[in-house]
Amino acid sequence: MHIPVLVDKVIEFLQPKENKIYVDATLGCAGYTEKILNISKGCKVIGIDWDQQAIEYSKEKLKNFLNSGNLVVVKDNFVNLKKILKDLKINQVDAVIFDFGLSTLQIKSCRGFSFNDETLDMRMSDSFTSITAYDIVNKFPQQQLVDIFYSYGEEKFSRLIAKKIIEYRKSKEIKSAKQLSEIVGNILYSRKKNLFLKNSKQKIELKFHPATKIFQAIRIFVNNELKNIEVGVKNAMDVLSLSGRIITVCYHSLEDRIVKNIFKNRNDFKIITKKPVVASDEEIRFNKSSRSAKLRVVEKI
Ligand SMILES: C[S@@+](CC[C@H](N)C(=O)[O-])C[C@H]1O[C@@H](n2cnc3c(N)ncnc32)[C@H](O)[C@@H]1O
Repeated sequence: MHIPVLVDKVIEFLQPKENKIYVDATLGCAGYTEKILNISKGCKVIGIDWDQQAIEYSKEKLKNFLNSGNLVVVKDNFVNLKKILKDLKINQVDAVIFDFGLSTLQIKSCRGFSFNDETLDMRMSDSFTSITAYDIVNKFPQQQLVDIFYSYGEEKFSRLIAKKIIEYRKSKEIKSAKQLSEIVGNILYSRKKNLFLKNSKQKIELKFHPATKIFQAIRIFVNNELKNIEVGVKNAMDVLSLSGRIITVCYHSLEDRIVKNIFKNRNDFKIITKKPVVASDEEIRFNKSSRSAKLRVVEKI
């Protein structure tokens, strides 16, 4: 199942202690929460996720901590953190942890996050999001596709891909992630091959699937990810107690830039990680998802 990324570093920066209250704002498969609760039996964790599957999975996995009252699991968007705490009658917390991106549960959920999926949905939560990836690629106008691909995927062939998608959908619906990844893959592969063959006779090898950036862009748009990060992190900073910490784990430059800028502009916080912490070669070897992870920590002063 999901292998938590940089979990030892998260624990090192958190130093879980009795009687402290921590928020795991992206509970996922509860990898961080489980470790925190096992280290410090007397602390309390509020675990938040907006994905029903993550909630059910974590509740079952950590039912002992739920029963003992050390764990509270809430299904919500983490941007609503202030209201969540108010409902629980909690004024301040000692740390908030964000681990952005997808859990393995989601990647394997056949909701369109993987290149070979038969559906094209990409919503992390069907309670808090409405537009699907299907709607975007089949209904959005060409210029809006260009904007999404460019802004959220930083894909330099955005115009070409949007144009080809519009041409394709005139004769056929794009129903699955598999179909989308093949359409984008074919466009980019032939484009890159032409560019490459001008300079070399070698076979081209691509490190990532050619549709990676387009999938990232659509997923970010569907789940309003960047706005959520901005609002969520700022709200978390407001509910921290003195010496409390925010720990974030980002997986691409768009996420990391938002977090870095928020942290940089707050003089009531001290930056603990001058440079982001990244995974060791050993961690990357046994957990591929850690290869792009960047961990940042700030402390309220
Ligand atoms: C990478 S996983 C977290 C994995 C977790 N740290 C673990 O060790 O198992 C990210 C989780 O954050 C959740 N998530 C993303 N955006 C969210 C939001 N705005 N509100 C609540 N949960 C969110 C996703 O549904 C997903 O389950």
